[in-house]
Amino acid sequence: MFKYINLPNTKSETYKMLMQTLDALLEGTNDDIAVLSNSASLIKYFLKDVSWVGFYLFKQNQLILGPFQGFPACTNIAVGSGVCGSSFEEDKTILVRDVNAHPNHIACDANTQSEIVIPVHKNNSLYGVLDLDSFKLARFTKTDQSYLEKLVLIIEKHLNKL
Ligand code: SME
Repeated sequence: MFKYINLPNTKSETYKMLMQTLDALLEGTNDDIAVLSNSASLIKYFLKDVSWVGFYLFKQNQLILGPFQGFPACTNIAVGSGVCGSSFEEDKTILVRDVNAHPNHIACDANTQSEIVIPVHKNNSLYGVLDLDSFKLARFTKTDQSYLEKLVLIIEKHLNKL
């Protein structure tokens, strides 16, 4: 059972606790959707000023909305389209300080100001992306990127066992 956790004050402590808690939480989980759903929920719980957290999964030759926390979002994104489709196509993290200044951004929520998208792999194949949005400008930094990439490795570890 998940118990309320007092959140640390610093970014590094927050990410460290998030990673430890996520790894333990996913330990007995043996289904992709369950892994992704609890991951989205825990990330949203730990990270302040994040309006939307979720996964887009590669299916039917495109990215389709997967488990998420936040308002309803776009359901289908072509590979190469938007920040999610570009991150997936290039297999690299894309950090967007200001979505309004980004030519390839797809607006699912007009209030979104900044975004980060990290590719997710399963058994060494591209599987989808993790997308985080914020109503705050420049919410995500290189420090967030570095921790979120480590966090995705934990999610991948739990996907790989399935
Ligand atoms: N902004 C994303 C679309 C997904 S929503 O933000 C949840 C993009 O440009 O790909």
